Amino acid sequence: MRSAYASFFAVLGFVVRSARGAVYERYEDLPSVSGFDFVIVGGGTAGNALANRLTENPDFDVLVLEAGPSNEGVLDSIIPFFCDQVVPFTPWDWNFTTTPQEGLNGRSVVYPRGHILGGTSSVNFMAYLRGSSQDWDRYAAITGDEGWSWDAIQPYIRKNEKWTEPADHHNTTGQFDPSLHSTSGINSVSLAGFPRPNIDPRIIQTTQELPDEFPFNEDMNSGNHLGVGWTQATINGGRRSSSATSYLGPEFISRKNLHVLVNAQVTRLLKTGTTQDDKPEILGVEFVNGDDTTHKLTVRATKEVILSAGSVGTPHLLQLSGISDETLLSPLGIPTILHNPSVGRNLSDYPLLPNLWLVNSTETFEKAERNTTVAAEQLAEWEKNEQGPLVDTLLDHLAWLRIPNNEMAFWDNFEDPAAGNHTAHFEFLFSNGIIPGTFPLPPTGNFLSIVTAVVSPTSRGSVTLNTSDPFAAPLINPGILSSTFDFEAMKFAIRSAQRFLLAPVWKDYIISPFNGLQNTTMAGSEDELDEYVRANTATIFHPVGTAAMSPAEGVEWGVVDPELRVKGVSGLRVVDASVLPIVPAAHTQVPAYIVAERAGDLVKKTWGAL
Ligand SMILES: Cc1cc2nc3c(=O)[nH]c(=O)nc-3n(C[C@H](O)[C@H](O)[C@H](O)COP(=O)(O)OP(=O)(O)OC[C@H]3O[C@@H](n4cnc5c(N)ncnc54)[C@H](O)[C@@H]3O)c2cc1C
Ligand SMILES: *[C@@H]1O[C@H](CO)[C@@H](O)[C@H](O)[C@H]1NC(C)=O
Ligand SMILES: *[C@@H]1O[C@H](CO)[C@@H](O)[C@H](O)[C@H]1NC(C)=O
Ligand SMILES: *[C@@H]1O[C@H](CO)[C@@H](O)[C@H](O)[C@H]1NC(C)=O
Ligand SMILES: *[C@@H]1O[C@H](CO)[C@@H](O)[C@H](O)[C@H]1NC(C)=O
Ligand SMILES: *[C@@H]1O[C@H](CO)[C@@H](O)[C@H](O)[C@H]1NC(C)=O
Ligand SMILES: *[C@@H]1O[C@H](CO)[C@@H](O)[C@H](O)[C@H]1NC(C)=O
Ligand SMILES: *[C@@H]1O[C@H](CO)[C@@H](O)[C@H](O)[C@H]1NC(C)=O
Ligand SMILES: *[C@@H]1O[C@H](CO)[C@@H](O)[C@H](O)[C@H]1NC(C)=O
Repeated sequence: MRSAYASFFAVLGFVVRSARGAVYERYEDLPSVSGFDFVIVGGGTAGNALANRLTENPDFDVLVLEAGPSNEGVLDSIIPFFCDQVVPFTPWDWNFTTTPQEGLNGRSVVYPRGHILGGTSSVNFMAYLRGSSQDWDRYAAITGDEGWSWDAIQPYIRKNEKWTEPADHHNTTGQFDPSLHSTSGINSVSLAGFPRPNIDPRIIQTTQELPDEFPFNEDMNSGNHLGVGWTQATINGGRRSSSATSYLGPEFISRKNLHVLVNAQVTRLLKTGTTQDDKPEILGVEFVNGDDTTHKLTVRATKEVILSAGSVGTPHLLQLSGISDETLLSPLGIPTILHNPSVGRNLSDYPLLPNLWLVNSTETFEKAERNTTVAAEQLAEWEKNEQGPLVDTLLDHLAWLRIPNNEMAFWDNFEDPAAGNHTAHFEFLFSNGIIPGTFPLPPTGNFLSIVTAVVSPTSRGSVTLNTSDPFAAPLINPGILSSTFDFEAMKFAIRSAQRFLLAPVWKDYIISPFNGLQNTTMAGSEDELDEYVRANTATIFHPVGTAAMSPAEGVEWGVVDPELRVKGVSGLRVVDASVLPIVPAAHTQVPAYIVAERAGDLVKKTWGAL
């Protein structure tokens, strides 16, 4: 937690509450408590986008049930730079931690998920990445549905994205390719709105000094993301753009057929019948509203229940509802409605390691963290006109890189797990200081972070019920660094980051590696590097795959078909990041939005509204 800023657990006083018509806190206040066509479980990234698209049709009545509170006035969610303090362990987090991770010397690590309207889009770091074209073409190949291919999803990218000028309205020529972007979508996307002159020019200069290993990429959202470039982020001027602020914006939430209930935690999906072809029909939803967790309410959808509870919540709810592996459910006394061992399995997420260097500058994040006057000035600048250093995320530039084909010593041992030859194996995330929460603030010194992440991991993990109590956390085991590939690729990424800083432009900037990294740079230091990786790796919180798409027929695995219907039951779809069978070499909010945008068309088509 950043010390010099005040704690903003309280909500912002000057934001007028109830600016919106149809976000309800109490079920009794809803105008109609029966007869919803669609009930969406989870008002998160994907859930709100889908609710928006379905209510474009005035004949569809939609109810969204969100466990968390409203996002309105939550300053830590609104101010982009406070993204590191909105979670973990706040009222806006589910407060999950992983099981002890063997690959991390038995450590458990935090696993935040947004518990607030907007879901994880209200608490994430806002980086905007579509993935490589090969990631999407691989989804099409795995599912046998060309509708998931890179070419086919372009309309959904455009429907989501609303390109917006950065807060400082600087000249962005050369920092992105306008021809790749849409100004007609709903969710704002922008470049940084406050310069970081101590590191921005050095990073760009490195792409000129070491162009072979670190080429410049003007726009990493073209489908070919390899190289180093400027970060695009879901920010609108000086504010976060989330699914709640965008897809539930005033012009949408005022629709008479859109109803959003917050503080409504779903505890189970209910079987409401059996179809003619003998499938369980799942059109009922059981939930609690507010603090009284003993009083269960139920609601029935007339057309579909749509599960958008995210990569942890979705498999957890399927399991609580008896849709999972029978051998997991019966010891807990949960009757099996559908035996499917794939539910909650194949969790795919990527490991991350925040590497630190001491630097010769005072203009890093540490400046405001150690000086309450500076922090107060920055906040005052934001409050006055939404300008200054708080308008940006903590991420500076990003790089998407491959372990070259001619690294024979490496590739002799592994098959290439990336989606294709222009898809990255690892990523750098540059940050102008220590990212709070990743390492305790030292009393002195200024820092540069190059966070390394393995974005083509082969490790797989799981989300499984621990108890039948719907209010208890599930067991989350992402299997971080449980494969040799992930471990060796992380070491390769760190060596690459060390080479990045050997470019001449860093000569008077980098003082020394920090936090044990210095011990890995000596000759014969492979053991130190191994130990450093096990001791310092965590995760970037991009889980997918726990309710994975597969071909509709002919395979023994998978939870949903390519049109996102839960296989083996009727009435139920999953629309969130959990359906992606393998983590893309990207951050996962844009993929979640793409899933939701396409789902909007798929559902409309099913019900004759397209
Ligand atoms: C700290 C952090 C930083 C990140 N940074 C980035 C980034 O910079 N860029 C990026 O692209 N991605 C980032 N991600 C990942 C990305 O935000 C998520 O992958 C994406 O938002 C997931 O969307 P979703 O719709 O699948 O789930 P969510 O957005 O998590 O939505 C699920 C919703 O369901 C609700 N819910 C769950 N269970 C229940 C229940 N039982 N009853 C009712 N409601 C329920 C939740 O409260 C939540 O609102 C980050 C994630 C984290 C945690
Ligand atoms: C998470 O922890 C915070 C801080 O202790 C608490 O306020 C919040 O209610 C917790 N979240 C949930 C979903 O229980
Ligand atoms: C922005 O910069 C580019 C090149 O750096 C220049 O050609 C262009 O004229 C500038 N645009 C404006 C509006 O100043
Ligand atoms: C995990 O996914 C792979 C395909 O990517 C599949 O072959 C395997 O059966 C899946 N495992 C489970 C338990 O679903
Ligand atoms: C904190 O910042 C203020 C404003 O820039 C400055 O005047 C003051 O000297 C700083 N305090 C310390 C202890 O560095
Ligand atoms: C990727 O593979 C294709 C087809 O094999 C080839 O034409 C292309 O040059 C390769 N691209 C790179 C970047 O290696
Ligand atoms: C799992 O449940 C057991 C028994 O109820 C409990 O002691 C344990 O803390 C739970 N584990 C987690 C990770 O919540
Ligand atoms: C720190 O930077 C200054 C210039 O800003 C330079 O003169 C000095 O040599 C640098 N110190 C180190 C240790 O690199
Ligand atoms: C790095 O090496 C030094 C000298 O051997 C040692 O004192 C220190 O504990 C090591 N640091 C870490 C984090 O391993």
